[in-house]
Amino acid sequence: MERPAVPSARGRQGGLPARVLWALLLALLAPPAASAVEVEDTFRGLAFFQETFPSEKEAGEMLLEFNQEEFVHVDWDQKRNVWRLPEFTHYGYQTHCALANLAVLKESLEILMKRTNQTQAQNAHFVFQRIGDCSFQSNGSEAGSGPTPHVRFLDRFAFGRQEFVRFDSDRGEFEAVTTLGEPIARDWNSQKDLLEDARREVERFCRPSYETAERFASGRKIPPKLKITLSENSLAPNALLICTVDSFFPSKINISWFRNGKEEDESRVFTTDLIRNGDWTFQMAVMLEAQPERGDVYACQVEHASFPEPVTVRWEAQSKSARSKMWTGIVGIVMGVAFAAAGISFYLKSKKGQAIPQPAALIS
Ligand SMILES: *[C@@H]1O[C@H](CO)[C@@H](O)[C@H](O)[C@H]1NC(C)=O
Ligand SMILES: *[C@@H]1O[C@H](CO)[C@@H](O)[C@H](O)[C@H]1NC(C)=O
Ligand SMILES: *[C@@H]1O[C@H](CO)[C@@H](O)[C@H](O)[C@H]1NC(C)=O
Repeated sequence: MERPAVPSARGRQGGLPARVLWALLLALLAPPAASAVEVEDTFRGLAFFQETFPSEKEAGEMLLEFNQEEFVHVDWDQKRNVWRLPEFTHYGYQTHCALANLAVLKESLEILMKRTNQTQAQNAHFVFQRIGDCSFQSNGSEAGSGPTPHVRFLDRFAFGRQEFVRFDSDRGEFEAVTTLGEPIARDWNSQKDLLEDARREVERFCRPSYETAERFASGRKIPPKLKITLSENSLAPNALLICTVDSFFPSKINISWFRNGKEEDESRVFTTDLIRNGDWTFQMAVMLEAQPERGDVYACQVEHASFPEPVTVRWEAQSKSARSKMWTGIVGIVMGVAFAAAGISFYLKSKKGQAIPQPAALIS
């Protein structure tokens, strides 16, 4: 399934679309160290700056996402922010702070290129990345009802796709990841203000962002569109009934197949992974291997938070020749989408109005 095109500003800087670039950049960074506690939600601030030689093209972008769904991105070229959903324009956002952060990344990138003697390289591109992950971990209590979750802020810096220094709020100081990072971590730790700022990010960046994001996500209930299709292959003895469940939010969903009122055995049922549509909705397909006989009624039943009770679509086998006749029901329940967060400010603010912590003038 293709991710739908993301509007306008994305993916224009020659070469890779920004989305693809992001996927590559993230894949190349080691994941945060595993934790014994289950991470339930993640709020991320990401930024990269890239320079390409000899063309001297520049590209940069900063984005914010919650559980991998994008809120907003700011493009260095366009110098403006783009909200991922129209609803988000209710939020406030300090674009100039994001741009200031990108400028810092640019400066840091150039310093590191000099320091590693790579300024003269031909046909090369250099990337500086920053990935700030706020993870919210609850320790066993029921989601939402228990004590405030534990918040960990992990801020990672990478040059040439290699992480060299990080700040982990559980440890409280910058740590070198490679030898390149050693003098830098020492330098940053010696700057009291910088260290204090980093230590305060849990309160200033993570918590307020989480509250807004969580409020939006928990109020968003989009009912799935359901459809049954029959896939017949003349070579295969069995037909495949496919229940497509599309455009729903949140992602938690139960889908089961019934034949003549009796639930089908799991061994005949195949489920795709949850697919992200990229627009704060998901889709999934559940397939049933079947040998429909005339008069059989198959039903795909879906339980989802947007439905007051399970919803079913049916497919009835006709005579063999007319088998592909089917009923597809677009489910009749129409529910309002509650945007509880509307009007609530989304400033990722500190009292001083910084967007994301300033790694500012870090590398000198
Ligand atoms: C970069 O070049 C300078 C001068 O040529 C040299 O002293 C330095 O060791 C080099 N640094 C690296 C990381 O190669
Ligand atoms: C769970 O979290 C609460 C609040 O943060 C804390 O008081 C409690 O000690 C934690 N329990 C465990 C088992 O970590
Ligand atoms: C899915 O089924 C489980 C187990 O019956 C249930 O606890 C859960 O609430 C269901 N999920 C949804 C979204 O209905």
